[in-house]
Amino acid sequence: MKNGMTALARPGVADLAVYEPGRPIEEVARELGFANADDIVKLASNENPFGPSPKALRAMRRAAADMHRYPDGGAFYLRQAIAAKLEVRPGQVLVGSGSNEILELIGHVFLDASTDIVVADRAFVVYRLIGNMFGAGVISVPMKDYTHDLDAMADAITPRTRVVFIANPNNPTGTLVGQAEIDRFMRRVPAHVVVCFDEAYGELLPRDRQPEVLPYVRQGRNVMTVRTFSKTYGLAGLRIGYVVAPEEGIALLHRVRQPFNVNAMALAAARAALEDDAFVEKIRRLVARELDFYRRKLTALKLNFIPSVANFLLVEVGEGRRVFEALQRERVIVRPMDGYGLPRHVRITVGTRRENERCIEALAKVLGRA
Ligand SMILES: Cc1ncc(COP(=O)(O)O)c(C=O)c1O
Repeated sequence: MKNGMTALARPGVADLAVYEPGRPIEEVARELGFANADDIVKLASNENPFGPSPKALRAMRRAAADMHRYPDGGAFYLRQAIAAKLEVRPGQVLVGSGSNEILELIGHVFLDASTDIVVADRAFVVYRLIGNMFGAGVISVPMKDYTHDLDAMADAITPRTRVVFIANPNNPTGTLVGQAEIDRFMRRVPAHVVVCFDEAYGELLPRDRQPEVLPYVRQGRNVMTVRTFSKTYGLAGLRIGYVVAPEEGIALLHRVRQPFNVNAMALAAARAALEDDAFVEKIRRLVARELDFYRRKLTALKLNFIPSVANFLLVEVGEGRRVFEALQRERVIVRPMDGYGLPRHVRITVGTRRENERCIEALAKVLGRA
């Protein structure tokens, strides 16, 4: 029902696209009339299916009794812990309510209608949504083999370009750009451009395969590295992430954040999770094992997929939207990819073995390949 508020909105707001998240289990159960939501398998939001670290759960239980207090708005202890772990200074770290909030803060600081962002055409869609939100131009650079083409992205930089976003590994393709490409790109990036590396899935890679971008932060380059506790650490519901950048950039981000942007439960859980290296190692191993399961089963079903280094796979199924809907009726939620210009694909998040078996069985049934 319209009451005229749209006419009062800032120009462009009514035209902004709304982010389409993975569908919640309860919503699908309601819509399809399933009496029982328990056996619905959600493989749609690249969550960690193995749950949070037990250390984080204990920290949350301890923190619960203090929820009548505001959180530490400066996130003092968590920033200390992140800084110590990454060998940077606490002043080079800022925490946010999920890495999505940090991406928006970057928009607040750097973007307006006089600027452009450079993104890859099949990169995480939130970058272009944020560009649009701040009225910036969005320069979209085709990927090569479903991978960021950093040479082409460097070529696309103009005097108006203010931020280049690079998801590494990228969602939804699961692909990685390596150190040599990053170093070549960084040699070409001019001083008027901020490079935002989004490493949401970085911890899933063995240490020796994780590209190193923090040296650029330590050198004082215009680099912002964004990470999250939502994926490998299994804390998506708490909404907590962080960014590592030179002090000057962090000081700007502080000016555009809310005083208590991260809740106290999340601060406590993230501190405990950060110390649990054994948990991260376990998740890395389990995800690799389950990715391998998918590779074998999808190959047996004669389905093409993009080789992924993250906890999800882009699978070519024909009519992606139709297959997504048919899978939902089999109580398996995946993600359609038409929004990414990939109408023939769905994205499947790696779940537990039981969930992955359910997904493969449902795929085989829906595609008539049982
Ligand atoms: C590449 C990438 N960056 C950032 C995010 C946002 O994560 P969060 O806001 O939960 O930290 C996601 C979530 O899917 C992602 O895939």
